[in-house]
Amino acid sequence: MKKIIKPKEFINGVISLPGDKSLAHRALILGAISSGRTKIKNFPFSKTCMYTLNCLKNLGVDIKISSGNVIINGKGIHGLSKSNKILNAGTSATTLRLLMGLLAAQNFPSKIKCTGSLKSRPMDRVINPLRKMGANIVHGENFEIFPSNFSAINYKMPIASAQVKSAIILAGLYCNDTVQIIEPIKSRDHTEHMINYFGGDIKFDANKILVGAKQNLSGKNIELACDVSNAAFFIVLATVFPKAHLILNNILVNPRRIGFINVLKKMGANIKFINQRKIYEGEWVADIEIKSARLHAIEICTQTIVDMIDEVPAFVVAALFADGTSIIKDAGELHFKESDRINCLCEEFNRIGAKIKPTDDGMIIESGFDYKFTSAFSHNDHRIAMALVIFALAIKNKLVVYDVECIADSFVTFFDYVENFF
Ligand code: S3P
Repeated sequence: MKKIIKPKEFINGVISLPGDKSLAHRALILGAISSGRTKIKNFPFSKTCMYTLNCLKNLGVDIKISSGNVIINGKGIHGLSKSNKILNAGTSATTLRLLMGLLAAQNFPSKIKCTGSLKSRPMDRVINPLRKMGANIVHGENFEIFPSNFSAINYKMPIASAQVKSAIILAGLYCNDTVQIIEPIKSRDHTEHMINYFGGDIKFDANKILVGAKQNLSGKNIELACDVSNAAFFIVLATVFPKAHLILNNILVNPRRIGFINVLKKMGANIKFINQRKIYEGEWVADIEIKSARLHAIEICTQTIVDMIDEVPAFVVAALFADGTSIIKDAGELHFKESDRINCLCEEFNRIGAKIKPTDDGMIIESGFDYKFTSAFSHNDHRIAMALVIFALAIKNKLVVYDVECIADSFVTFFDYVENFF
């Protein structure tokens, strides 16, 4: 499906976005293995979150959608049961990797399939540590997971990945001893905070996580903060669009998720957090006010990259509007996202007139563009598609973006916001 993006006169308004996907996957999984009822408000209903929801239903969990909320009657830590069907993680790496950790520790077998680019994304990073814990996983056309003797590990992660960390933590909930995980760079810590909120035993500081043995969790009411990764596209748009003024309500501002906002501020953006408040220990929300500003170039690397790993497509738009040449380093992980984001971002933005050079672990982005080609392609990567749409709105020029259906993977109502909310 193609979408013709037409210029807008104003970027003005107050908007509330759907809930954060990372929180949503975790709330579903923890709700399923808790005792008692969990109610999730502001659930995003993105395709990827629905894969997790449907997998859990197939594992015997009673999950209902009522008045836009998700209600889970938790099965307790040992209450999941064998699925009669192959579980489908679709294009969702979070579903596949987190469920692999959870299911490796169960006393029944499971089979998980996936589709699209996820079929060729790296899975050894999660299978290897789970095998060290004793997991019996066969990776062929699908992922077959058999019951095994499972034990705790002390694992030093070679790469920063919240999905891998979370898979080990979920498996660790079922161990007889404490599981220790060391991260090379701290990644998003939603699993850790949410386990504590659900009454579990997990301790963590800078780069070390200790998952207590034999846990019990209890269901909770949880209102998901709005998705900061989706907000990033509107934040950059309001920053580079002349005379814009936008307020985004109730955005997740966990320090490990606001790397992009911090970078934009360093580049000169006019962004304010209003009414910052705690949802539960470790998780914060704020209303974010954005006014147009002139940006200057920046170099980003290491922890900043981990804190904005999903926001690099939005960053490219900002860098094209900034004075000077921006440099991204230490971002080799981008080769393994829904597309090879380094090469695909360069290809598409260069096609429409930018000058971006790919490097092994990042990009060199020259300021400005010479708008010349009026079509661009998403590479079936939702975040590349949204970055192209936002870029078209920002340059106030017509652009046809092809293969935009992938946006529903993470943000089903994206075009409702683009078309109706400003
Ligand atoms: C996620 C972690 C990140 C991120 C993904 C969501 C999560 O992936 O890119 O969109 O919810 O844990 P990695 O763990 O591969 O860095």
